[in-house]
Amino acid sequence: MIISILNCDKKWGIGKKNGLLFHLPKDMEYFRNTTRGHVVCMGENTLLSFPGQKPLKNRTNIVLSKDENHNYEGVINVHTFEDFLCKIKEYSENDTVYIIGGASIYSQTLPYVDEVLLTKVNADGKAEVFFPNLDEKPEFECVEESETILDGKIEIKFTRYVNKHKMTI
Ligand SMILES: NC(=O)c1ccc[n+]([C@@H]2O[C@H](COP(=O)([O-])OP(=O)(O)OC[C@H]3O[C@@H](n4cnc5c(N)ncnc54)[C@H](OP(=O)(O)O)[C@@H]3O)[C@@H](O)[C@H]2O)c1
Repeated sequence: MIISILNCDKKWGIGKKNGLLFHLPKDMEYFRNTTRGHVVCMGENTLLSFPGQKPLKNRTNIVLSKDENHNYEGVINVHTFEDFLCKIKEYSENDTVYIIGGASIYSQTLPYVDEVLLTKVNADGKAEVFFPNLDEKPEFECVEESETILDGKIEIKFTRYVNKHKMTI
């Protein structure tokens, strides 16, 4: 399985100034519990946005960066989108592969994902980067939606969209 996982605000915004829009402890816990032990794939900017610019523990980290001189410790480094897709395919044969951002990686990999685990945040985070609006894409169907809960003072709900026309890598 290949699954994108993210949170977005009510305008489908996901980030600004190479950081997240909100501090959401419950969503962070959901992300950790879901991805732990599996494979996470990201772009270089997302790796650099992590604390200490370090990969996520207890997960296989695959990182795409254009510059061949940018190679990070503790991750599988790839430098072309083709190689990135090859790694995703290889690992997805025996494991669940999570696409964890950022904006450029989510949009380029969207045709190949089975599902999107999307936490919807009922707020406007004044984002600079966005996720494609899945409700405008006929191939994506929202099949699960949780009750709205409070994460700190912010309303969120967990949703799952399936890709009915997934492209094979
Ligand atoms: N809300 C959420 O759940 C969530 C999750 C993750 C990240 N984010 C946010 O997303 C933002 C980062 O997104 P981003 O789009 O700026 O960066 P990104 O997707 O994390 O990383 C982009 C990197 O990948 C490289 N790259 C992209 N496509 C490529 C290709 N086809 N071939 C070779 N290299 C390629 C880029 O190189 P070039 O720049 O040289 O093209 C760049 O180094 C941050 O604000 C972050 O906090 C939000």
